[in-house]
Amino acid sequence: MAIRILQKEKLFSLEGKHTQYVFSIDENNLVRHLYWGKKINNLEDFSPEKIVEISSNDPTLELTKEEYSPQGGLRYKESCLKVQFQDGTRDIVYSYEGYEIIHDTLIIKIKDKNYDFFKINLYYKIYEDEDILERWTEIKNQGNEDVVVENILSAEFNLPEGEKYTLTNVHGRWAGEQVQFKQDLSYGKTVLESRRGVSNHNHNPYFILDSGANEDYGDVYFAALKYTGNFKIVIENTPYNTTRALIGINDFDFMNTLEPSESFVTPKVICGYSFLGFGNMSRRLNNFALKYVIPEEQRNKIRPVLYNSWEATTFNVKVEEQKKLAKKAQEMGVELFVIDDGWFGRRNSDKDGLGDWYVNKEKFPQGLGELVDYVNSLGMDFGIWVEPEMVNPESDLYKQHPDWVYSFPKRYRNTLRNQLVLNITKREVKDFIITFLDKLLTDYNIKYIKWDANRPISEGGAYNLPKNKQRMLWYKHIESLYQIVDELRKKHPEVSFEACASGGGRIDYGALSHFTEFWTSDNTDALDRLMIQYSYSFIYPTKAMRAWVTDCPNFVNNRYIPLDFRFHSAMLGTLGIGGNINKWSEEELRLAKEKVREYKDIRNIIQKGNLYRLKSPYEGQISAFQYSIKSQESVLFVFLRGQNFGVFKHNINLKDLNENSMYEVIYDNVTYKKSGAYLMNLGIDIILIGDCASKLIKIREI
Ligand code: GLA
Repeated sequence: MAIRILQKEKLFSLEGKHTQYVFSIDENNLVRHLYWGKKINNLEDFSPEKIVEISSNDPTLELTKEEYSPQGGLRYKESCLKVQFQDGTRDIVYSYEGYEIIHDTLIIKIKDKNYDFFKINLYYKIYEDEDILERWTEIKNQGNEDVVVENILSAEFNLPEGEKYTLTNVHGRWAGEQVQFKQDLSYGKTVLESRRGVSNHNHNPYFILDSGANEDYGDVYFAALKYTGNFKIVIENTPYNTTRALIGINDFDFMNTLEPSESFVTPKVICGYSFLGFGNMSRRLNNFALKYVIPEEQRNKIRPVLYNSWEATTFNVKVEEQKKLAKKAQEMGVELFVIDDGWFGRRNSDKDGLGDWYVNKEKFPQGLGELVDYVNSLGMDFGIWVEPEMVNPESDLYKQHPDWVYSFPKRYRNTLRNQLVLNITKREVKDFIITFLDKLLTDYNIKYIKWDANRPISEGGAYNLPKNKQRMLWYKHIESLYQIVDELRKKHPEVSFEACASGGGRIDYGALSHFTEFWTSDNTDALDRLMIQYSYSFIYPTKAMRAWVTDCPNFVNNRYIPLDFRFHSAMLGTLGIGGNINKWSEEELRLAKEKVREYKDIRNIIQKGNLYRLKSPYEGQISAFQYSIKSQESVLFVFLRGQNFGVFKHNINLKDLNENSMYEVIYDNVTYKKSGAYLMNLGIDIILIGDCASKLIKIREI
């Protein structure tokens, strides 16, 4: 049973295969957190301890671990919910009303004691097999007066006491996103957030808290928000040696007036506990995403090898050149040809064109169909880049509809990359986007949309919204984005949607619930990518991670990396090629063809399998990644950043093999046989010579 309840004690237990989450309602009607950890079967063991005041400065509510702490009464801790009632009361006193179970979801119903028309529902959905819990919150105004909501987070978590926690997340910026950091929590609060309207490059909407864990061992608590907009994560070490973690929509420039009969549902949080370190956490999330998050119609499809012409031609798109690229790509084994920016409007640079979604006649005198048909005639699918939420002030669209962007009446409209953000909370703007994209997808045989968003929102004026909802624009922008993509997916279920925002600015579980995959970063330097991809893999699925092989020296670091290494690095996700292959030598084209074939042979293991991060690129010159399916088939990638002191032999122990089985190991075109026990305990010696050397080894159970 995934949900168990002790009726008399009002105790609730949510249980996965190996983990358990417990809370109860105490005599003061507070929803008290009791436990999150390994399974403890006997529910009678649990009871909320009596909390006694330490002093007049330490009220009991400060010491109480609640499931969802609102602002009110003697609470000074970070709160999940802050409202103002019509009489000016800015204080919530809640009490428990009851519970409901719908399938595998438990709903805890609470209400305000004096304003009993104000209801709060706490949702807990348990995925037993995956040991994943999904949490979210709903508030309802069932009264006759408005309730102003100033803050509403999705969930609060209380970590087991007596441990010191380390927070893992990423920091970064454009072309430097997903750089992992680990931070020991000290006193006070740690806040990670986005105020930009997209989940953004700076941090990512999740937390991982561990107490001395590594890849294979130790306690790890994690939660990831299904939301693409402004988020906020607050981790608080209290004066009482406890750690709390809150996650949800950012209260920055947020205000939602709930009118009578209105309700609001927060984004969901995917969370869990692993006692087997970070590796187990990542593999569970990977499987969960493949099973439940990626849009259903695309979920089980193997991702094609794509070619994208952006780095090759940038805005300088010419149909003949694109055709040449397509031919070369097809010869290499590419399955999907994607034309990036520059095909529409007066788009010869980033100064003009955004918003004018007609095919550029000078670049495509015979229309876009010429290229689409050519690509199809080569047996490849066709994909195309769009940036629907944006507009250049130079564009015809902006001249016709200067009122379609977010803005304040007297303020200068700040551009970034020469563009403004369309107010997609407006019905007509939303319709415009749906109409042009629907037409594009109907007129041409397009199977892939790369959906970009190259700047954050600023001057967030949305006067189409009622006065009391204007600060909901950040939320409503994302709501509209999801609705637009969903509508297009419904009309064109065969189309995949890639979420991109100046590279990896839109990597989050909200995006992955509507898009098929992510553009991970504009940084395609194969060495930097190892670090970016390593951090990405902590939370997000391999199958959704697009990675390209591009030209050297790479524009980010001006570094030369052998083509072999570039391929191996990009093969850690869904392979793409993004270089100017018209300029590649015969030898490079031959190698590329071989690598694409090799990737196709093993991509099932990479895209669906379990990832074991054997050696981290953050820790030394060597990094190693093993992907495995059911202990039967594995591929191992090993990378040497730079050779030092003449050391060329590196020993790697494999994981996830059957000790007693024999395996065939294919390494440098030589096949030999070893037992699983040998490969896991003694490992394989890998020879890597020189800077940026890499190997791909295949292991198969006999
Ligand atoms: C963004 C994307 C790139 C490319 C350009 C096109 O920067 O991240 O991959 O599509 O826009 O302008």
